[in-house]
Amino acid sequence: MEKKTARNFFIWGTVICTAIFIWLTIDTHKTIPERTNTDKLTDEVVAGKRVWHKYNCNGCHTILGIGVYYSPDVTKVYSKRGDIWLKEYLKNPESPDPKRRKMPNQNLSADEITKAIAFLQWVSEIDTNDWPPTPITVAKVTGAPLEETAMILKGKTVYTQNRCDLCHRIGGQGGVIGPDLSKVGTAKVPQWLSQIIKNPISVNPNTQMPAYPHLADDEVQALVSFLSGLK
Ligand code: HEC
Ligand code: HEC
Repeated sequence: MEKKTARNFFIWGTVICTAIFIWLTIDTHKTIPERTNTDKLTDEVVAGKRVWHKYNCNGCHTILGIGVYYSPDVTKVYSKRGDIWLKEYLKNPESPDPKRRKMPNQNLSADEITKAIAFLQWVSEIDTNDWPPTPITVAKVTGAPLEETAMILKGKTVYTQNRCDLCHRIGGQGGVIGPDLSKVGTAKVPQWLSQIIKNPISVNPNTQMPAYPHLADDEVQALVSFLSGLK
């Protein structure tokens, strides 16, 4: 390429990309009122947001990607749980189950609960292009009893360390020699899963799936917890 051509290429490339960037930015901003239902942004919703901050709900939860992942993402909790469930839950969120992560009871007044719910409802109606995505296993992990969460996460690690992904896909990632495991938890019971991992030949004498005799029992069990959660 000659020097002049290269310069033209650079200048026009920059001009066109900048124009596209500006156009997309303007387009995004134009759609915000519609996507966020600005017309439904009532005083009650605004008061609900204040409640959200007063009690530092963000310190444990995430909304629209902002906050902490200690506890469930509540961007869509209103559409998932509804008004009545939320009202009851927020009155007394402490679970008696010692294995669950605790949501403390911060003694919100009835008025604060109503406002917080109005805010959560408004948030859940924002068109977020399906955010938050439901990550594999996390749907099961968040809010699950701690012991179970630990097992699932350990199983995921065993899966990665043993390179099961060389042959299997989960959520579109991995090889194609073995079956897609994204929904294996729906189709197979835990006992069958542990058998195929420990001794694939006993399930199918001609299988291409290698045996994993070096896996310890608790590693197999963790793998099974992880796979059972894929639904
Ligand atoms: C100290 C951390 C913490 C704080 C602060 C906190 N939460 Fe929670 N929240 C949790 C945990 C943990 C859970 C899951 C509890 C469970 O599954 O038993 C939860 C669950 C919830 C749920 C139910 C989610 C679902 O789908 O099951 C809602 C709604 C909720 N919190 C709203 C709030 C609101 C509103 C505030 C602020 C007033 C708040 N939380 C403050 C820890 C917290
Ligand atoms: C070399 C490729 C390969 C590797 C590596 C591999 N698998 Fe497989 N796997 C297969 C094949 C092929 C099948 C199909 C079973 C058959 O042949 O009967 C299978 C079947 C399975 C099934 C049953 C799926 C179903 O729906 O029927 C599970 C569960 C499974 N594998 C888990 C694992 C786990 C966990 C690991 C890692 C510890 C692993 N696989 C590693 C090739 C592999």
